[in-house]
Amino acid sequence: MPDEGGRQVAIPWPHAPKGASALRPCRLGARHQARDGETGRFEARTQAKGTVPTGNSSVVSFSDAALRKEVVEAAIRAPSGDNCQPWRFRFERDRVEIYMLPDRAQSFFDFRNRGTYLSIGAVVENIRVRVACSDLALIAHYPAGEPAPGMPTVSGSLRPGIVADGARARLAALHERTVNRRPFLPKRIAPEKQKAWLADQVDGTAIAIIESRREIARWARVVYLGDRIRWTHPTIHNELFSKILFSRAEADSKRAGLEIDRLGAGPFAASLMHWLQPWSRMERLARCGVDRVLANQTRSLAFCAGALVLVTIERDEPEQWIRAGEQVQRLWTTAHQQGLCVQPLPIAMYLDQRFQKEGAEHFPPAHRPLLEQMRGDLALLIGNRVGAMLYRVGLGLRMSRPAVRLPAESFYDDLVVAP
Ligand SMILES: Cc1cc2nc3c(=O)[nH]c(=O)nc-3n(C[C@H](O)[C@H](O)[C@H](O)COP(=O)(O)O)c2cc1C
Repeated sequence: MPDEGGRQVAIPWPHAPKGASALRPCRLGARHQARDGETGRFEARTQAKGTVPTGNSSVVSFSDAALRKEVVEAAIRAPSGDNCQPWRFRFERDRVEIYMLPDRAQSFFDFRNRGTYLSIGAVVENIRVRVACSDLALIAHYPAGEPAPGMPTVSGSLRPGIVADGARARLAALHERTVNRRPFLPKRIAPEKQKAWLADQVDGTAIAIIESRREIARWARVVYLGDRIRWTHPTIHNELFSKILFSRAEADSKRAGLEIDRLGAGPFAASLMHWLQPWSRMERLARCGVDRVLANQTRSLAFCAGALVLVTIERDEPEQWIRAGEQVQRLWTTAHQQGLCVQPLPIAMYLDQRFQKEGAEHFPPAHRPLLEQMRGDLALLIGNRVGAMLYRVGLGLRMSRPAVRLPAESFYDDLVVAP
């Protein structure tokens, strides 16, 4: 698929075996369900893009090419670890299938693809917002257990829906939403804003808003421990530096990865990161305590947030992680609409999940005491729930533009879809 620069951007396509998928339908959160005959704040219109009238009833489908493109354009604005964009779409009648591309998601942090499931949940939420603008609702079909290779990770089917007034504004917000790695003001978030975060929760997820300085400090210490491991782990180090886009030209040509000017490392970020790139140098610097300095910076960023927000799930299962992603994206879009900035800080939780399942096998021996401290802290902070996402939120200087993305066309084959 050619991109704007005329290069071929090839993304592997998982070939799904023919036959029934292992996905099961599930109820949506209240605001997003298709509802009949509702009046008041909601306005029912019937013949929007994607709705084919057939006598008394309406059949909805993805037969409209413009709708398909706009759905993908909205979907791919979802966050993904290191901006790896590990997804692929397939449309059929009233159905959109979302496939995970594990090769693109390759990361030490993405233990058992949990972070990727979360990203795919954010994709689902974005599609839901886009189709709501066409008076449609999306019923999500989640995998029962781990999806088999070649099967969709999750799919959604269209239903006639009823649009909430704010659907267009929400769509605009999801296109603008972006991670902000700059410092935020340590100013409390107004209670009515927090109330809006809790107003529309995704089933199966729990949200905790952490705003007492004492509690934030406890979390900031966990963030610090995770960050020290991050800066002193050779695999993580090499992965991080392989994903940095060191110049605007590189960002504009690759369109996936971490743009140097968005890392929050200031005006000399490119020189600094070039210098830190060789693992042997970072290893030597760590012996002089540079990892502590860098991790303390991240601790300060966490400590000086308006609030930290934690999204947890009950069980470590793909469906729950996908739902967590829907929840995170819903919260993030709302925070953006409220003029707030967001940065995910889940590293410590993800490293701890690996430690709980595998022990310290994939870590250098010096990490064991850090992992054990983190385990002890997280056991007290989360109990036996699974930490899906932690992020800091607050008032700050907004980013001037969203992060790069590959072209929408490279994520799906735009075949004719039967109505
Ligand atoms: C599972 C997951 C983990 C992430 N972890 C971090 C993180 O530790 N630090 C960070 O700054 N951003 C993190 N992000 C945000 C991504 O880096 C960001 O979504 C990506 O670079 C694309 O940028 P955008 O969200 O602004 O479009 C994470 C995102 C996801 C989905």
